[in-house]
Amino acid sequence: MGKVVVVGSFITDIAVYTPRFPVDGETVMGDRLKFGPGGKGSNQATAAHRAGAEVTMITKLGGDFMAQIAIDHYENEKMDMKYVYRDAECETGSAIIEINKETAENRIIVMTAANEKITREEVFAAEKEFAECDVVLLQHETSPESLAAAIELGNKYNKKIILNTAPMREVDRSLFAKVDFVTPNETEAEYYSGVKVVDLETARQAAAKFKEMGAKNVLITLGKAGSYVNAGDIDEIVPPFTVKAVDTTGAGDAFNGGFCAALSEGKDIISAVKFASALAAISVTRPGTSPAMPYREEIDAFLAERA
Ligand code: RIB
Repeated sequence: MGKVVVVGSFITDIAVYTPRFPVDGETVMGDRLKFGPGGKGSNQATAAHRAGAEVTMITKLGGDFMAQIAIDHYENEKMDMKYVYRDAECETGSAIIEINKETAENRIIVMTAANEKITREEVFAAEKEFAECDVVLLQHETSPESLAAAIELGNKYNKKIILNTAPMREVDRSLFAKVDFVTPNETEAEYYSGVKVVDLETARQAAAKFKEMGAKNVLITLGKAGSYVNAGDIDEIVPPFTVKAVDTTGAGDAFNGGFCAALSEGKDIISAVKFASALAAISVTRPGTSPAMPYREEIDAFLAERA
């Protein structure tokens, strides 16, 4: 079992299922509304945990009722809450998610709230966990100072650092040079590189732009088209597993959590990408984000079946 430190968001997902997305000014009848545990960081931590990694989650909740959704989730999952901080003055992060029942695609508006209050000191309080871990996993849904502190500690202890550049937001791009992998999806890749990614050639061009910004290795998730890996001698698209999707929300989180869990066990990059793709494929066959993450036995069985 490998060890993964995640500095990331907890967000309460408020998900509504709709027959189609409304246009501006239109009201559409939804048919199901669900509150559940989400947030890119917490989804990724849950994915890695269920995949078999020992996970340290560093996050911050507010003082409202939504914090309890996080606490219940971590208790049910038996995930360590030592570094789950609270700020009573703040709201817990929340997201409004629309899921199109026809296409399984989603639209998200996220309020990061308490996640933006994670301080450098709170990240440094977990220094021992950084020293003992195999992989550090980060995203763009927490405070810039928490991101910088996590990268500083990861580098201090010479750990593999994976930066999932989601969601798109203006960040200090010099950080791309201080991590081992950046993992945008195709939309984020276009935002940061200026290249619209539609195939292998454009994925290569986007990766080259990331490398001009200092990135060492680039992994671009391409949804139904698989994942493009540009790392050392590897320059290829790893094909996806085909499944019947019901909700694609959190698929990228499943992928990133799975990728880090696999790396933390010592799997090579391509094996880790295949493992991550299996995790993402299973997760989209279920509704929700964190609750949709598969357990290790399910991932191993899926991979054995599809081998
Ligand atoms: O990646 C999906 C996640 O993005 C959702 O769980 C939502 O909370 C947003 O952060």
